Amino acid sequence: MLVTLTHVLAKADRGRYAVGAFNVNNLETLQAIMDASESERAPVIVQTSEGAIEYAGMEELAALAHIAAKKTKRPVVFHLDHGKNFDLVMEAIQNGWYTSVMFDGSSLPFKENVRQTKKIVAVAHKRRISVEAELGAIAGIEDFVSVEERDAQLTDPKQAAQFVRQTHCDALAVAVGTKHGAYKFKGESRLDFGRLKEIAERVSVPLVLHGASGVPANIKKICTKYGCEISSAKGVSDSAVRKAVMLGVRKVNVDTDLRLAFDAGIRKFLKERPEVIDPREILKPAKELMMKVVRQKIKMLGCVGKA
Ligand code: G3H
Ligand code: 13P
Ligand code: ZN
Repeated sequence: MLVTLTHVLAKADRGRYAVGAFNVNNLETLQAIMDASESERAPVIVQTSEGAIEYAGMEELAALAHIAAKKTKRPVVFHLDHGKNFDLVMEAIQNGWYTSVMFDGSSLPFKENVRQTKKIVAVAHKRRISVEAELGAIAGIEDFVSVEERDAQLTDPKQAAQFVRQTHCDALAVAVGTKHGAYKFKGESRLDFGRLKEIAERVSVPLVLHGASGVPANIKKICTKYGCEISSAKGVSDSAVRKAVMLGVRKVNVDTDLRLAFDAGIRKFLKERPEVIDPREILKPAKELMMKVVRQKIKMLGCVGKA
């Protein structure tokens, strides 16, 4: 069943858990997410980035997601991830395929981010589509050269409250030290929980944690064993994500961990079964590993049985 982001996040807020948002670029990843949602009786957010749209097509991805959502009783949000291109976000709203969009104006000056987000919200809300917005630069804490730079880049709690009041967005992506991709930290995962707590206290809408992949040790081990060079990859620990959820994060974005699982599954299979050329056989273990990752995330987020 297709639902809006507001619908699943309002329920998550009441239950104090978070819903996983997983990036899809192809059929197998979508199947893995849907199978995990079914096994864990959990709502899921299926999201497509601009890159995914470039790769597979908006209409094609929407068709896959809509059919999958139609076939399940579990709530499924079909969400546009990191819409930086204003016109593309408008297109996603106007063609009616998405039940939720993210407008990512985080690289714009504050006033311009407010102005453009407000416009998107006005059009989206007329069509009952939710809007996630972003304030602050989602970059790892170690990427900042000084405390001053860090404070200037991470989400400012007072500004976040003002941003939400002015834009009427339905969810806010915050920058508290996570970063996209497989290389988030040099040492232990370090997030600015004090900042997150203050944002949660001041902001009335559910918060979103981007760059939340954990680079699971078991998956990394398979990847590495079968030739993938990712020895210094490091993600956000499960305990850090759980703490963020305790503090008010209600949507947790995961892409990298699915990429790693896909990669691990394919590398292992091709090495062990060099005689196989059927893509359906080759992709099967990759799909199963992705499903395991999604199930683990659903458990970690406290989302089991919430649908
Ligand atoms: O936030 C970024 C997601 O991991 C999507 O990545 O733009 O390469 O599809 P992508
Ligand atoms: P990861 O790279 O940590 O999976 O983050 C994904 C994300 O934030 C998508 O918007
Ligand atoms: Zn992101």
